[in-house]
Amino acid sequence: MLNKKVEDICNRQIEREGYSSNLYLAMASWAETNGFGGVAGWLYAQADEERIHMLKFIKYVNERGGKAVIPALKKPAEELKGVEELFKEVLKHEEFITASINEIVALSLEEKDFNTHNFLQWFVTEQVEEEASVRTILDKVRLLGKSNLYLFDRDIMALRTPASGEKATT
Ligand SMILES: [Fe+2]
Ligand SMILES: [Fe+2]
Repeated sequence: MLNKKVEDICNRQIEREGYSSNLYLAMASWAETNGFGGVAGWLYAQADEERIHMLKFIKYVNERGGKAVIPALKKPAEELKGVEELFKEVLKHEEFITASINEIVALSLEEKDFNTHNFLQWFVTEQVEEEASVRTILDKVRLLGKSNLYLFDRDIMALRTPASGEKATT
């Protein structure tokens, strides 16, 4: 059975993954209404993945005899300054999530909860991929510059690693 500290920090992560999904949905909606259909597609897919991450935590907590708490979610910003700024924010958010996952890893070791430690390894790997893929996107945006955003928007879906999210559902 999960101890209270581990249960609480996993519930904190349920909220954070849920917020990630909401954040990317809000960004997708902004992109969609500002002429960036490709960027919107990338973000909608990303939002789906984050929901799967939340579900993984919900199911894990319940499976281990804890009680998953379904959180109220903060409202993300509606207005964004531009595509580069958007992806800078995505990267910042993913770095925050990586740090958050690492805190759970540290606690699981401190509490000698090796099942949770094992469960978290998927997320540790996932965060490396998430950060790397957003850094690649940011490099491309900077390389192309503001005047070539049309090309960037057209090609962004090709930068998606079909990996993690899909695997998560199985
Ligand atoms: Fe996530
Ligand atoms: Fe993520």
